[in-house]
Amino acid sequence: MLAEDRALEVSAPDDARILILDYGSQYTQLIARRVREAGVYSEIHPPEISPDKLAEFGAAGIILTGGPESVGAEDAPTVSDAVAESGVPLLGICYGMQALAEKFGGTVQPSAHREFGYAEVSLSDGDGLLGELPGGGGCLKVWMSHGDRVETLPAGFQRIASSGNAPLAGMADPRRRIYGLQFHPEVTHTEHGQAIIERFVRGICGCPDRWTAGNIVAEHIERVRREVGEERVLLGLSGGVDSSVVAALLHAAIGDQLVCVFVDHGLLRLNEGDEVMATFRESLGANVIRVNAEETFLDALRGVADPEEKRKIIGGKFIEVFEDQAKKLAGVRWLAQGTIYPDVIESAGASSGGKAHVIKSHHNVGGLPERMRLRLIEPLRSLFKDEVRKIGLELGLPAELVGRHPFPGPGLGVRILGPVRKEYADTLRRADHIFVSELREQGLYDQVSQAFAVFMPVKSVGVMGDGRRYDHVVALRAVETVDFMTARWSHLPYDFLDHVSRRIINEIPGISRVTYDISGKPPATIEWE
Ligand code: XMP
Repeated sequence: MLAEDRALEVSAPDDARILILDYGSQYTQLIARRVREAGVYSEIHPPEISPDKLAEFGAAGIILTGGPESVGAEDAPTVSDAVAESGVPLLGICYGMQALAEKFGGTVQPSAHREFGYAEVSLSDGDGLLGELPGGGGCLKVWMSHGDRVETLPAGFQRIASSGNAPLAGMADPRRRIYGLQFHPEVTHTEHGQAIIERFVRGICGCPDRWTAGNIVAEHIERVRREVGEERVLLGLSGGVDSSVVAALLHAAIGDQLVCVFVDHGLLRLNEGDEVMATFRESLGANVIRVNAEETFLDALRGVADPEEKRKIIGGKFIEVFEDQAKKLAGVRWLAQGTIYPDVIESAGASSGGKAHVIKSHHNVGGLPERMRLRLIEPLRSLFKDEVRKIGLELGLPAELVGRHPFPGPGLGVRILGPVRKEYADTLRRADHIFVSELREQGLYDQVSQAFAVFMPVKSVGVMGDGRRYDHVVALRAVETVDFMTARWSHLPYDFLDHVSRRIINEIPGISRVTYDISGKPPATIEWE
């Protein structure tokens, strides 16, 4: 645990920051993460950012991302005068390079061949961005994805990289510190990609290496203390990664001014409720109220088979139970939430209204802030998931908790098909526990993104000793994914699946058959519902 006095020893990070202008690339968030991994804070904004906002942001450098448009097409986003004349280093990637070339007087043309995938570029010596990369040897394997390309350089620019399909694969005006790369340094397929990003943000922009887990924690603790002062803060603790890290952070910042309410809806994983209490109340010494509401939830769900209906009931009851508890607490002024940076970007961007948005609504304790006149505090708003995990560890949370697979808010309610019954939940919890603990034991847990068991209310025949029996079926699901929007089923070893299946059937009465789900997303989803 981070002691309060240790937090005070670390000074706040220098506020050097990088602005990322999002021209619509699928890699925008990745660029922001890579910059932060290089130790420098970065934020994503639209290319139309106003001159006032730009000045207020105070970027030490600006990165212009790739994008799907063609420079010069009607309505294609451009580089504003404010950005071009900002005087700070600029780096354009793919479309960003083309937009910069156009802005400063070069030309961009559709290329005869769309180039997608690996390409080899040759580099010029002595360049501050690409020159003399360790082991580079004048050549670099890079990741390309473009149709258009820069045909002529603007005045003052020189070529720093070329490939077969893009003779101008990199350009630089070292005097004005303006750079362009046709390839994507942010993706891992590009050799030395991270080194290139680091050279830009640390070397060319001169930002210090200050965005580290320790500094993030220290800075956020200071900020929370400044924001809430002596007032009390309420947090709905679910045991998931985000709300757990919020709890640990707020506890480190304001100690007993934090009250956590943990609603156990009876649809959690095996021993989960006790583990949450052990971590937060016993180890961290946080103020946690556990509400055992299993009966309330199971009563409300009795006989309901429709998945959407089940979700609504669970979400609605959750708010009711949480609110009842909150009303009993005196003097609370704030409600804390585990919103993270991708949620913020998604709700601001074109994809708002998407699934991610809908998913979070379960945790948004709908209407409560207004009704109770609570102010909202979202201490993880600027952090990516990997940063949330890093600061969780820094705050002393167990690695097992911080590295946990996601678990849906409605819990086993969506993993028991058809009506939910306590005995089904108990059976499923045991099967899920065998699967997940075996994954951990065999070192497979971190190789899959999410793994769980699903309960099917159908009965299938089996033989046990001399007798036949009709018992329930359990499906195992394990997927690999980066963003949970698409996923492939994990090719877990057959021996492993065999072992798990035997254990489940032998150890858990009421299960006669285990299946493994080999559907990808799309067309299937990750949960079964
Ligand atoms: P699907 O099933 O749509 O799930 O492929 C994608 C990811 O979202 C999780 N999920 C939820 N998470 N509340 C949550 O917090 C929910 O209601 C919910 N529904 C699905 C799912 O576990 C997977 O990681």
